Amino acid sequence: MKEDKELQMPTHVTIIMDGNGRWAKKQGKVRLFGHNVGVESVRACCEYAVEHGIKYLSLFAFSEENWGRPQAEIDGLMSLMVKSMVAELPVFLKQNVKFRVIGNRTALPADVVEGIEKTESATACNTGLNLIVMLSYSGKWDILQAAKRYAEDMLDAGKRVDVDERGFEKYLSTYGIPDPDLMIRTSGEQRLSNYMLWQCAYTEFYFTPVLWPDFRKVDFELAIRSFNERERRYGKVE
Ligand code: IPE
Ligand code: IPE
Ligand code: MG
Repeated sequence: MKEDKELQMPTHVTIIMDGNGRWAKKQGKVRLFGHNVGVESVRACCEYAVEHGIKYLSLFAFSEENWGRPQAEIDGLMSLMVKSMVAELPVFLKQNVKFRVIGNRTALPADVVEGIEKTESATACNTGLNLIVMLSYSGKWDILQAAKRYAEDMLDAGKRVDVDERGFEKYLSTYGIPDPDLMIRTSGEQRLSNYMLWQCAYTEFYFTPVLWPDFRKVDFELAIRSFNERERRYGKVE
C-alpha cells in the first residue's frame, strides 16, 4: 500500500451522497435527521479536500428525480441547503473555498436561489478548493439543455456547423470544470442515477457500503487509495 506522501490526488472528485434516509431509519429517526447529519460528512470531505490540495470537489445533493419525493422532505432539504450555505460561508472564506451550484435553477425556490447567489459571489475570488454542489441536477437535463442552446446558437448564426465534442461541451453546465477523475457513491448502491452522464465517460468509480452520514475523512482516504491502484487506459494499450 502506498504511503501518504506518495498518494496522488485526483484533480476532480465527485460524490453521490447516498443513504441518509436508511441511516436515519436505523436510528429510529425521520429521514430529515439523516440529511441534517449528512452536512457533517460534507464538512469532513471539504476539509479533506482542502488539506490534500484537491482542486475540485463536486457533490450530488439533489437530483431532478428527487423533486418526486414527499413535499415535506423536499422543503426540509431546501431549507437545510439555505441554512448550511449561511453557516458555512465563514469557513469557505477562511479556507479559500470557491463555492458554486450547478443544476436547473428554474425549479428552485427563490430563497434558495438567493442564498446560492450570495454565497457564490462572496466566494467568487477564492482560489483554493472549487466546491460544486449539484442541485436539481440530472445528466439527461444537462445534455438536453446543452443541445437546445447549441441548436439555438447555430440557428442564430444562420449556419450549419458540424457538431463536434469540444464545441458541444462548451454548452454543458459543467463547462470549464475538468471531468471527474473519481466518483464515489456511498450506501452500497452501484448506479449513476442519472448523474453526470457525459462527464463520467472515463471516470473511475468507487462504491462503498458506508451510509453518507457516517462518511468521514478515513473513508475518503480509502477511496483515494483505491483510485491510486487504478490503471487508466482510455481505450489504449500500455
Ligand atoms: C441521499 O440520501 C440524499 C438525497 C438523495 C437528497 P437518500 O435520501 O437518498 O437516502 P436513502 O438512499 O433513501 O437511504
Ligand atoms: C441519487 O440518490 C441522488 C443524490 C444522491 C442526490 P437517490 O437516492 O435519489 O438515487 P436512487 O433513487 O437510489 O437511484
Ligand atoms: Mg438514496
